[in-house]
Amino acid sequence: MSILMFLLLATTTTMALGQGTRVGFYLRTCPRVESIVQATVKKHFQSNPTVAPGLLRMHFHDCFVQGCDGSILIDGSSTEKSAGPNLLLRGFDVIDDAKSQLENACPGVVSCADILALAARDAVVLTNGPTWLVPTGRRDGRVSLASDTDNLPAFTDSVDVQKQKFAAKGLNTQDLVTLVGGHTIGTAACQFFSYRLYNFNSTGAPDPSIDSAFLPQLRSLCPENGDGSKRIGLDNGSSDKFDTSYFSNLRNGRGTLESDQKLWTDASTQAIVQRFLGIRGLAGLTFSVEFGKSMVKMSNIGVKTGGDGEIRRVCSAING
Ligand code: HEM
Ligand SMILES: *[C@@H]1O[C@H](CO)[C@@H](O)[C@H](O)[C@H]1NC(C)=O
Ligand SMILES: *[C@@H]1O[C@H](CO)[C@@H](O)[C@H](O)[C@H]1NC(C)=O
Repeated sequence: MSILMFLLLATTTTMALGQGTRVGFYLRTCPRVESIVQATVKKHFQSNPTVAPGLLRMHFHDCFVQGCDGSILIDGSSTEKSAGPNLLLRGFDVIDDAKSQLENACPGVVSCADILALAARDAVVLTNGPTWLVPTGRRDGRVSLASDTDNLPAFTDSVDVQKQKFAAKGLNTQDLVTLVGGHTIGTAACQFFSYRLYNFNSTGAPDPSIDSAFLPQLRSLCPENGDGSKRIGLDNGSSDKFDTSYFSNLRNGRGTLESDQKLWTDASTQAIVQRFLGIRGLAGLTFSVEFGKSMVKMSNIGVKTGGDGEIRRVCSAING
């Protein structure tokens, strides 16, 4: 290929990724960044596997509020981190650990937003999921407000509302189904779905979309008025492995969250779930391929680049 062709391709690829992030942003300024982040995530994962789903969810919650700018990482009484939807996030210590090692290796160079984007990818790989190239070059934000978290998707949201909230971030219906497929790993506390099991929607009966064999299992793990902090797999039977069984669970009425199960109830999202399951007659979609593509889109939401924002010295505080 001619040099001109290469340059053209390289330029359009960079542009297609959007907003100025690019793969290998730290190639000259911090060549070991990816291996340092990867080794750190792995070290923590080996003693505490729950950091993998924790980091994936943390990246999602970072990107949907003020863009992927590390605003979720800021400590304080009125920051995003202190807000209801973020209280159960896990893995902050992993980001802080990676940051302190990177400050030794290449001081003042790598943003916390990039560390989180890389760590989310590494977390998926550690749970047997696919890998993908993560464009970097994000800068860290200087604003983090608890009140901004109000617009995060909620577990009671209808599919129309879920679609609206993703569309507002430039993500289409296929991205929605693909990214919520991140629930193939991790757990949810009983407090987020036990209302489905007993007196759902004041009907005096459980949510009718729950599989009849799954219901007694959920009830015994999450008794009425029991411990709301107890955690149950989001992908029944396979919550520590990144695979497609989350989608077959939805087909079988075995989604844990109401918002998850609705992806099967709604025709437009069910069609995409079916494509991931390889239902005959439909154009197949490969989850392991689509997930990386949708993650790259998500990880470019509202990114700050160039001279915007800052490179934080520690990830838990805005520079003084
Ligand atoms: C409609 C959109 C979504 C809703 C309503 C939603 C809601 C939730 C809820 C209620 C939990 C349980 C939290 C807890 O008990 O600690 C959870 C966990 C989780 N979510 Fe989502 N989520 C959504 C989309 C996503 C996306 C796009 C991703 C990633 C790409 C994601 C990744 C995760 C992961 C990995 C967990 C497990 C966390 C852990 O085990 O610590 N979610 N989600
Ligand atoms: C809950 O009840 C209301 C009022 O009866 C109804 O309009 C709504 O569709 C119900 N929601 C679900 C999820 O069943
Ligand atoms: C999910 O699957 C496992 C089998 O691995 C089963 O023992 C468990 O009780 C199931 N149900 C729930 C609600 O997690």
